[in-house]
Amino acid sequence: MSDKINIVLLAAGKGTRLNIDIAKPLCPANGKTLVDYVIEELAEIESEKKLYVVVGHKAENVETHICENFPNLDKKFILQKEQLGTGHAVKTFLDESPEAKDAEFTIVVCADTPLIKKNTYDQLINKIKNDDLQAVCATFKLANPTGYGRIVHADKGFKIIEEKDASDEIKKINEVNSGLYIFKTEHINSYINNLNKENNSNEYYLTDLVEPGLDVATLCYKDSLEFTGVNNLIQLEQIEKELRRRKIEELQLSGVRFINSDSVYIEQTVRIERECTIYPNVVLMGKTSIGQHSIIESGTTIKNSTVAANSIIKSNSYLEGAMVGERSAIGPMARLREGSVIGEACKIGNFVETKKVNFENGVKVSHLSYLGDADIGENTNIGCGFVTCNYDGANKHKTTIGKNSFIGSDCQVVAPIKIGSDAYIGSGSTINKDVPDGAFAIARERQTTKENMAKIFIKKKE
Ligand code: UD1
Ligand code: MG
Repeated sequence: MSDKINIVLLAAGKGTRLNIDIAKPLCPANGKTLVDYVIEELAEIESEKKLYVVVGHKAENVETHICENFPNLDKKFILQKEQLGTGHAVKTFLDESPEAKDAEFTIVVCADTPLIKKNTYDQLINKIKNDDLQAVCATFKLANPTGYGRIVHADKGFKIIEEKDASDEIKKINEVNSGLYIFKTEHINSYINNLNKENNSNEYYLTDLVEPGLDVATLCYKDSLEFTGVNNLIQLEQIEKELRRRKIEELQLSGVRFINSDSVYIEQTVRIERECTIYPNVVLMGKTSIGQHSIIESGTTIKNSTVAANSIIKSNSYLEGAMVGERSAIGPMARLREGSVIGEACKIGNFVETKKVNFENGVKVSHLSYLGDADIGENTNIGCGFVTCNYDGANKHKTTIGKNSFIGSDCQVVAPIKIGSDAYIGSGSTINKDVPDGAFAIARERQTTKENMAKIFIKKKE
């Protein structure tokens, strides 16, 4: 018998009450999926372990997701073709995994309880070892226990009665089964074939593995939130709120300042360095990271983007797949689209949209401009109302502007086009020919001014 622990993750159920097409374990929750949280905490258990995932409904999707996200975990997938109950799920695991009998203990946990912490697993492991028990079941108390299996204690041991099978008297019991257990593997092995479907659900109940008279115990927890299972979208929201609260708390303790954390949405995958300030109503998603001392003002959304240290993203800006260098200022109301790479000490002002651009350090685009498929050299200044005409209706074309150039306001450049370094483009120009280094280019009608002629054009009301 080895010290190795089997972990059986029950993930075969349909999740009918969720009313969504996605398999329940893959339900999104604060930037990851439900099953990710469960596996991440299980992976922290220090003993040698092997994960057995019982899959059924949308098995292939669940398997692919887990393999992609946890490539290094020792794991095996067990297909439960028909979902005949939690007892049947564990029986299928044991039938198909003769090697599992070598591990002294087996933890059973559901894929839809993402808030359970590593500490709780450790406590169950310690209890079964220290008290030399056959099984320990994590329980908690609820003012309204409807829906859960009730814990009926006996002089020795206890039993679990499901809601559907409970008398009115038993329904009043408010200590409930969390669905998390640790067993001696040999206990499961000896009792699993005794399970039957003689109950009101016509299912094999895993809970029938405990009964009065056996060396089984409960570990009753005060925090019921930790064991909340996601059976519907109301519970999913509760869980996401808690996951977010934990994430924000962790960031706060690491030195990130939130002006009003209740109004902020921050996904699990986001990294923020210390001494950043996050204003209200900020949304940070995916693989986003914010460098030290940066400020994210209110109403800003940032997805899969990197903001380096000492930068500011001003109010109501939208960044997606962008990289912003140190000491840059973006917004208010700027939109950096996929592939925008902004250097150090750049300034991108209001109503500026960029896509697939590379701005070297010190570039300024302060107002009302669109730059797509463009490389802009160091310290070049782009005036108000500039447009790269990058699309000819079929293909995209590139604009290149060198360093230290000055583009006057209200200019368009028709790509493909190259403007050199130290060049100057007069305001109001439409440039469709390359401009060499150091050149001045202007492309607009000359002004004609006629003295005293305005009165011809000025109309008076009759
Ligand atoms: C179960 C417990 C109940 C407990 C509750 C806690 C039983 C009989 N009852 O009830 O005492 O209070 O959890 O949330 O165990 N699953 C499979 N294969 C199946 C059936 C279920 O893999 O054939 C999986 C589900 O995907 C889910 C988990 O097992 O992850 C629990 O199943 P569910 O139907 O939600 O059980 P409950 O009725 O909630
Ligand atoms: Mg359930």
